[in-house]
Amino acid sequence: MSIFYDSKDHVFHLQSKETSYVIQLLHTGIPAHVYWGRKIRSGPLATILQRTERCSFSPTPFPEDMSLSYDTLAQEYPAYGVGDFRNPAYQIQAPNGTTTSEAIYDKHRIYKGKPTLEGLPATYAEHEDEAETLELELVDAVAGLRIILTYTVFGELNALTRSVRFLNEGTDSLKLLRTLSMSVDFRDSNYDLLHLSGTWAGERNVERRALAPGLQGIESRRGSSSHGQNPFIALLAKGADEDHGDVYGVSLVYSGGFTAQAEVDPYKTTRLSMGVNPFDFSWLLEAGESFQTPEAVLVFSADGIGAMSRTYHKLYRTRLCRGVFRDQTRPVLVNNWEATYFDFNADKIEAIAKAGSELGMELFVLDDGWFGHRDNDRSSLGDWFVDCKKLPEGLEDLAKRVNALDMQFGLWFEPEMISPDSELYRQHPDWCLHVPNRRRTEGRMQLVLDFSRADVCQAIGDQIADVLRSAPISYVKWDMNRNMTEIGSALLPPERQRETAHRYMLGLYSVLERITSEFPNVLFESCSGGGGRFDPGMLYYMPQTWTSDNTDAISRLKIQYGTSIVYPLSSMGSHVSAVPNHQVHRNTSLELRGHVAMSGNFGYELDLTKFREEEKATVKEQVALYKELRSLVQFGEQYRLLSPFEGNETAWMIVAEDKSEAVAVYVRVLAEPNDKLYHLRLKGLDPQSDYEWIEGGGVYGGDHLMYAGLPVPHLQGDFQSVLWRFKKI
Ligand code: DGJ
Repeated sequence: MSIFYDSKDHVFHLQSKETSYVIQLLHTGIPAHVYWGRKIRSGPLATILQRTERCSFSPTPFPEDMSLSYDTLAQEYPAYGVGDFRNPAYQIQAPNGTTTSEAIYDKHRIYKGKPTLEGLPATYAEHEDEAETLELELVDAVAGLRIILTYTVFGELNALTRSVRFLNEGTDSLKLLRTLSMSVDFRDSNYDLLHLSGTWAGERNVERRALAPGLQGIESRRGSSSHGQNPFIALLAKGADEDHGDVYGVSLVYSGGFTAQAEVDPYKTTRLSMGVNPFDFSWLLEAGESFQTPEAVLVFSADGIGAMSRTYHKLYRTRLCRGVFRDQTRPVLVNNWEATYFDFNADKIEAIAKAGSELGMELFVLDDGWFGHRDNDRSSLGDWFVDCKKLPEGLEDLAKRVNALDMQFGLWFEPEMISPDSELYRQHPDWCLHVPNRRRTEGRMQLVLDFSRADVCQAIGDQIADVLRSAPISYVKWDMNRNMTEIGSALLPPERQRETAHRYMLGLYSVLERITSEFPNVLFESCSGGGGRFDPGMLYYMPQTWTSDNTDAISRLKIQYGTSIVYPLSSMGSHVSAVPNHQVHRNTSLELRGHVAMSGNFGYELDLTKFREEEKATVKEQVALYKELRSLVQFGEQYRLLSPFEGNETAWMIVAEDKSEAVAVYVRVLAEPNDKLYHLRLKGLDPQSDYEWIEGGGVYGGDHLMYAGLPVPHLQGDFQSVLWRFKKI
């Protein structure tokens, strides 16, 4: 059992293997937040919560208890309007226009397992015993609003999920103005804030800074989770690092605009909250209707950022990703995007696939440009029928030619978009997001289809399904290459226009659910100009994501390191591309590019027909090596050793869950005069076991490799890398 209710003190204790989360119902019915952190045994938990009477500027709603002010109380789901001046978790607008709410305890339910979230992606329990759920129901009787706070503990996985459902039980309609998924009040402000920020081709840089009084945080207003900010935030105790110290992570299972904030109040407490971005959002809740927030996943680690990451990795790999590919190793692929861009024909494609097959690759992916008359990015999105000029014999013929080479065939789509120059747009000019009488702003010469509309979702879903049925397609790359502007829907009434962006996400999720369940044997990879929608929401439908459009191995050090703070290696697409690199024009060796790309779902994205003989030999070895390594890479545990954000060197390793084997990679970016002699200290091995070093021979104790370390060979020149493999003997 993981959730205990002490009916005497009205305390809920949500316990996992190593963590505790404690809620207390005060006598007034308000759920107070008591504790989140390292596991404690049950005992007098009600004594943890401290309250004191503050000055007259902290209002006291209950005169008989002057120490109870919402302004200073640590709460579970704070309201707006009754004396808490910090960020509220929710805000409503009543029919009379006012925005005050106060919701108090009505009832609760504890049960085994984990409920699904209607229309939204979420982590799941495969067996009832893995998880236990608490539903805490609060009621604002004046507004006729029921708020159901749902908490699920994954006992063995050390994770806690939270989400909220709003139910209008009154007779009038209500407006929801703010509906965050979680809020936690920390007793102090002695933390650093960690988040993952970036840009197109430079996603998920690790940012860390000390909390300061006031509001700080991140958000996306782009209608997608975005390249700029990832839906993840963490508080780190002062001094916490990769391997030590308290770390509190929150990750949102959502692919749309979000907010994540830490607010330090005048009393030096910190409120951490996260959810759908309330900016330009509202939701009309008619009598009898309900609204479900996305899920937030809370992970506490007492052993630094690395342990938090490994918890997220395991949870997301095994209890967020679904389908037959969840537990299957992924094929080594070759993608033609950087090889040909839009300029290809069936023979060229077949030639690349043939070269890939000879080198041991298993899947050919036909990227953008196969449909409509798409010779550049100015047209045809929405016209999902084959371009007979480029592929006169059609898709089925091409797929079969690729299959005949013993390669699977994969295909690129960008289903959420429409080009103004397309048959679809000429037929349905109102199918895109737009605002009447305003310009339709283009991004990459394209508009965003209005996925808040069921008819649009149905029609696009039908088109994609038809193509997938038309040929032996084993893999789909689902791309999305711009953010939303003029967010309005032709079908929604004025009072619901601000629901459009969230309804779009619900529509997208419904199409993804439909397509992925209709084609369970297709491997789906999501993409948004690389990693512009690398988030847990997409991983629920598609177990891997194209990590970044930047394929330069040196840039990838930061991108993949930052991504690994939350996401498992099995979710990251990672390819060897040509030099000079197309994004940053850097030259690096094939060896280095291979070493970096092998720490993910490995592939190539260049014209294989142009390889010289010695390059072919290297690639053949790389593919063979990756095949040996891939179950370790895709299902093992990752340990970060050296951060590219802190110096000239980056290193990481992956250890099998049973510690029977490991691989470590070290990269030095720039050569330096008088290099230091360097020992790389490994992590995660069994100190009592001996490991054979596969490449160099020799047997080393796990303790030796972790405490004394591994001598890094003397490397000459810029952009050097080493890969070591170890097997337990
Ligand atoms: C953006 C993707 O990230 C690229 O990999 C490629 O698929 C292009 N779109 C195609 O337009």
